[in-house]
Amino acid sequence: MENHHSHHHSATQDDDQAAMAELLDLDAEVLHSYLSEVIDWVHELAASLPRRRILDLGSGTGAGALALARRFPDADVMAVDMSEYLLDHLRGKARDLGVADRVRTVQADLDAAWPAIDPVDLVWMSSSLHHMADPDRVLTEVYAALHPGGLVAVAELDSFPRFLPDDLGPGRPGAEARWHAVMDEVRAIDMPHLGSDWGPRLHQAGFTIEAERHFDIDLKSPLPASAGRYAQATLRRMRSGLADRMSADDLAVLDTLIDSDGPGGILRRGDLTVRAARTVWVARRP
Ligand SMILES: C[S@@+](CC[C@H](N)C(=O)[O-])C[C@H]1O[C@@H](n2cnc3c(N)ncnc32)[C@H](O)[C@@H]1O
Repeated sequence: MENHHSHHHSATQDDDQAAMAELLDLDAEVLHSYLSEVIDWVHELAASLPRRRILDLGSGTGAGALALARRFPDADVMAVDMSEYLLDHLRGKARDLGVADRVRTVQADLDAAWPAIDPVDLVWMSSSLHHMADPDRVLTEVYAALHPGGLVAVAELDSFPRFLPDDLGPGRPGAEARWHAVMDEVRAIDMPHLGSDWGPRLHQAGFTIEAERHFDIDLKSPLPASAGRYAQATLRRMRSGLADRMSADDLAVLDTLIDSDGPGGILRRGDLTVRAARTVWVARRP
């Protein structure tokens, strides 16, 4: 298989990728109980599948691919992502977990061309379908990639995670809600498929819907230290995307929160919570 990865990355791109890798790893770590519940559930639904070839599309740093490799000890897992940086990170984690012999990576832009892959029994797509330019086309490719009887699991965000109380102390109350409202406006243009109801679209691609489950995540104190870093990484990403659309006051509050050293930094707040919502659809190729 050809690898079209370009080696001409700028320093900024690499910083971006490193920040993304950190965010994805923290997401998997902090939302660990959600992820293992979903993976256990998918494992049950997949109990009758004859063989175990698993594909993770838009794998990122491999939260799903690696959890699946461990939950399906006989399976071969293929992780596909457009980012060679994230796949490299994934391979390192696979080695650490002792599953490198069963986890392969393929660099491919799924908007451009479908990689040449032998048929699989299970496809996992977590927070990746909404990134695709034409997700309906991707779903028909997924259908074609599956053996008859095979399953696809689509996990998507209902909303981005929230961490803060309404009144932060400094600044006008409701800051996090305001930032989310701005982000929703931007996302509606950049990512029109985010928040879609994927059931009808899976059906349209030929699948039979087996199940749909909603997960409300609400983690409270005592939180692990990684929760603070997850909140910080999320707010940093928000700042880089939204700075020019925020009021000067809100930006100052945000800068105080993301500062690792300052007394008002989010790493030091004792009042953090983690609120997130995810929906998972499982569908079968008849
Ligand atoms: C929000 S991350 C989710 C990562 C991982 N599935 C998880 O749940 O942690 C979205 C991933 O999709 C990948 N992606 C976005 N568009 C893609 C495309 N056109 N082809 C392949 N991968 C893509 C990104 O590189 C990124 O790793």
